[in-house]
Amino acid sequence: MEKIIVKASRTYQVSIGRGLFSQLCALTPCHPGIAVIVSDEVVAPWYMEMVSAALKAGGYHVKNFIVPQGERAKSFIWYEKLLSFLADAHITRSDVIFALGGGVVGDLSGFVASSYLRGIPYIQLPTTLLAAVDSSVGGKTAINLPEGKNLVGAFYQPYAVIMDTNSLQTLDADIFADGCAEIIKYGLLADESLFKLLSQHVLTKNREDTALLETVIARCVAIKRDIVAQDERDTGIRNLLNLGHTFGHAIEKCSGFSIRHGHAVAAGMAMVTRVAVRHGICDNQVLEKLKSVLQEYGLPVSSEFSPDSLLSALRSDKKINGNVLRLILPQHIGSCRIEEIPLDKLDQYLIG
Ligand SMILES: NC(=O)c1ccc[n+]([C@@H]2O[C@H](COP(=O)([O-])OP(=O)(O)OC[C@H]3O[C@@H](n4cnc5c(N)ncnc54)[C@H](O)[C@@H]3O)[C@@H](O)[C@H]2O)c1
Repeated sequence: MEKIIVKASRTYQVSIGRGLFSQLCALTPCHPGIAVIVSDEVVAPWYMEMVSAALKAGGYHVKNFIVPQGERAKSFIWYEKLLSFLADAHITRSDVIFALGGGVVGDLSGFVASSYLRGIPYIQLPTTLLAAVDSSVGGKTAINLPEGKNLVGAFYQPYAVIMDTNSLQTLDADIFADGCAEIIKYGLLADESLFKLLSQHVLTKNREDTALLETVIARCVAIKRDIVAQDERDTGIRNLLNLGHTFGHAIEKCSGFSIRHGHAVAAGMAMVTRVAVRHGICDNQVLEKLKSVLQEYGLPVSSEFSPDSLLSALRSDKKINGNVLRLILPQHIGSCRIEEIPLDKLDQYLIG
């Protein structure tokens, strides 16, 4: 098992390993009271019983709350339903929410935990690769508005994160690949040896290798931990974690959200790396290595949308400030910097 301590406005442990759902109580820092397990309709049939049994064995009184799968659960409707459920069950500040699922369940549960009774404990039990390496750590919680994603939320750190690598075995292949795009991002951003490991051992072809998954997830969480420790509230260097996401979001938007997030981020990373090469701060070999790794994972390296459509999507998202776009650009594998690129240059860099 890998253990990582995150030091932010709360200090907590991230535990990553095989079969951890059956050892939950040993890894949970809270005294047994009522445990509310929040999960979605896909994850619950797989793991709810196991998690519930482990908590009961540790002396918890368990209640379950199931939300629909997908983004629609990150809504005011489900936020209010969950709050009412907690109130009806007389949940107090000495009880705990367990968020069992991907980023959607984690974001909704975390925001509810941050606001119910002005804050109750919650523990993240991430079951997607993206949730394991990204959304379960760092304390960003949110729901969506019709006007846009993640517009209402809070910074509210969990009391623990417990990741059972066995749970990744039931993920659909494209959802697993989405998480791989975020993992490749960490390598490109901050860890050349992780990047090499990912090219030598392609995770999508070694899914059952839980020891490899444990190592890789722990390396990503350690990178995120270091960044969050310096900039918990995302006013500076935490922005680096958005590598590939600026173009990624534009691609998602242009596709009417039919292209999955991780796939869009993969194409977005290849695009910013090309911008970095053409801007003269990165060697073409970096771009070639990145493209080759992404292709090994079955991820895209370009987008079908014209520079004009991507830039207009960025404009409507208010990502463009005057005549420049702020981008996170790779310099080498394992090192990136933030740079403002004038739009007329960007147009040339993206064409051809
Ligand atoms: N808080 C943060 O810092 C942060 C960071 C990145 C993303 N996010 C948010 O995370 C969300 C995306 O998270 P996601 O990609 O995990 O999506 P998700 O939670 O929607 O999960 C994807 C799908 O996988 C299914 N699933 C989950 N675990 C499974 C398992 N073990 N086996 C089988 N199926 C499983 C879910 O039911 C769902 O259908 C977005 O809402 C995004 O805004 C938050």
